[in-house]
Amino acid sequence: MNRRYRKTVIAGNWKMNMTATETKKFAEELKKIMPRAKWCDTLICVPACNIQTAAKAFKDLRISVGAENVYFEEKGAYTGEISPAMLVDAGVKYVVIGHSERREYFAESDETVNKKVLKAFEYGITPIVCCGESLTQREQGITIDWIRQQIKIAFLNVPADKAAEAVIAYEPIWAIGTGKVATTEQAQEVCGAIRACIAEIYDEATAEAIRIQYGGSVSAGSAPELFAQPDIDGGLVGGASLKPDFGKIVCYNK
Ligand code: PGA
Repeated sequence: MNRRYRKTVIAGNWKMNMTATETKKFAEELKKIMPRAKWCDTLICVPACNIQTAAKAFKDLRISVGAENVYFEEKGAYTGEISPAMLVDAGVKYVVIGHSERREYFAESDETVNKKVLKAFEYGITPIVCCGESLTQREQGITIDWIRQQIKIAFLNVPADKAAEAVIAYEPIWAIGTGKVATTEQAQEVCGAIRACIAEIYDEATAEAIRIQYGGSVSAGSAPELFAQPDIDGGLVGGASLKPDFGKIVCYNK
């Protein structure tokens, strides 16, 4: 299998932005400029309280709804957390796990990422597993080692057939929300190393099947070149997914 057989996956990540009212308005605007996306899997990860509104508003556009987080327990005394069953019931198909902002501000670790990945699979939700290095790590030349460690722990005890269905998002922390997009070469180098790491953990077939996104200041301008790389199967898009311009990123090859 090669790149041609992996369907591009483009995901928006709204973070803590957009009310339900704004979500409906956004969908209306997007409908004016974007045809129903059939050539790639398109989704937008929205704040939990917008999931149901978004699922309804995006249906006609063939845009799936993702969550930005999930807890790894089934139910119980975990004030403020959201269970995988709640997400499934609300119409969620994907969930972002281990975003660098969650690791930095909410003390998520590689171990909790692993627990969440396992739980998401148990409930049939596709995890978008995030990894990425800081500027210091890049400058110290330890990017690949760091990413390999994140990936190896995130996929502990995940069987190959599940891993093949996962999405990995490589997001250099220094490129997130900074307007400083990684060069195409930097992004391809790390995404290629991630695929090689998956081949090591599992096998070639799993590595060829898994989809790897680049994230970090992706725009309509940078998307075509990034997504044309052999190991980059789409993007995780933050800031640029908040505007109808997101439609242009989804139509990057049109
Ligand atoms: P950005 O965010 O596109 O605004 O850099 C990407 C992300 O954090 O997923």
